[in-house]
Amino acid sequence: MTLAGKARTALRRAATVVDRLARPKPSARPYFFASNGPPVIASDQPLVFGSCVCREAHYRLPLFRWWCDRLHEEPRYHRKLWEWVYICQALHERGKLAPGLRGIGFGVGKEPLAALFASRGVEIVATDMEPEAARAAGWLGSAQHAGAELKSLNERGICDAARFRERVQYRTVDMKAIPDDLDGFDFCWSSCAYEHLGSLEQGQEFVRRSLRVLKRGGVAIHTTEYNLSSNERTVASGPVVLFRQRDFRALEAALVADGHAVAPFDFETGHEPVERYVDRPPFADEPHLRLRLPFGLASYATTSIGIVVVKG
Ligand SMILES: C[S@@+](CC[C@H](N)C(=O)[O-])C[C@H]1O[C@@H](n2cnc3c(N)ncnc32)[C@H](O)[C@@H]1O
Repeated sequence: MTLAGKARTALRRAATVVDRLARPKPSARPYFFASNGPPVIASDQPLVFGSCVCREAHYRLPLFRWWCDRLHEEPRYHRKLWEWVYICQALHERGKLAPGLRGIGFGVGKEPLAALFASRGVEIVATDMEPEAARAAGWLGSAQHAGAELKSLNERGICDAARFRERVQYRTVDMKAIPDDLDGFDFCWSSCAYEHLGSLEQGQEFVRRSLRVLKRGGVAIHTTEYNLSSNERTVASGPVVLFRQRDFRALEAALVADGHAVAPFDFETGHEPVERYVDRPPFADEPHLRLRLPFGLASYATTSIGIVVVKG
């Protein structure tokens, strides 16, 4: 092994030891998931999700299990599940999952959200990058791209097959070049996708451009990577980039300047046992709220974050 290789390995090991000493792996689920309760929303109740970081407490809300059941997922402490539940709930509580409304998803991969929204009467355009580009980027073989096969977006059988065909269309869309004919939607979303556009700037630009597909009052919900290690150092370009708190502040300022309203950010990351544990490769299915990603000589602790924007 070269000297640089040895240094890299030593740094990674040191980072892991620090994580382990500071945050031991919880031996068992410290809490049961809450009983299954529908996310009833009364107009006098505060909204559950603004723009915020994935938190352990969210998994204990009755609505977490409720959405997991509808997504045909076993509730577990995994950040991917948080992203999907976050998007569902944030749309639901803003009245966007109602029959006759229209939504568009970007970089949908094989996620079950299009099927779930269609099952609730919403018309959906599900989009992802062109299959050859997805193959080159490694998405096609990773079970994270539908390969333009519409029915694979309903492989869990969440939506009645005939209704799914009626209400969901699939379209190839590059998130870096959203076509102008996509407009008039009530909402748009993306999960775990805009950190893969090549740079911090491309990611931020995508969020701003995504607002153009919406009607006034339409809602954009996007989840992505949040750098827990630093508000200074980060991964600014490459296949995966990591957004810092300052990047979200800059994005918020740009969106407000564009005339939109951003749900206030809560950057609190929490101190409970599961959210203090940092998973590392090879990643476990649970607990996996925070993880350490290696990038060359450096490594960063990350988790998921979501942003909610209302088009002005
Ligand atoms: C980690 S996967 C997430 C898939 C899915 N959203 C989910 O939550 O399971 C990243 C997704 O982003 C898509 N993607 C990456 N770059 C893209 C681009 N330039 N335009 C459209 N989609 C892109 C990939 O094809 C893939 O579907």
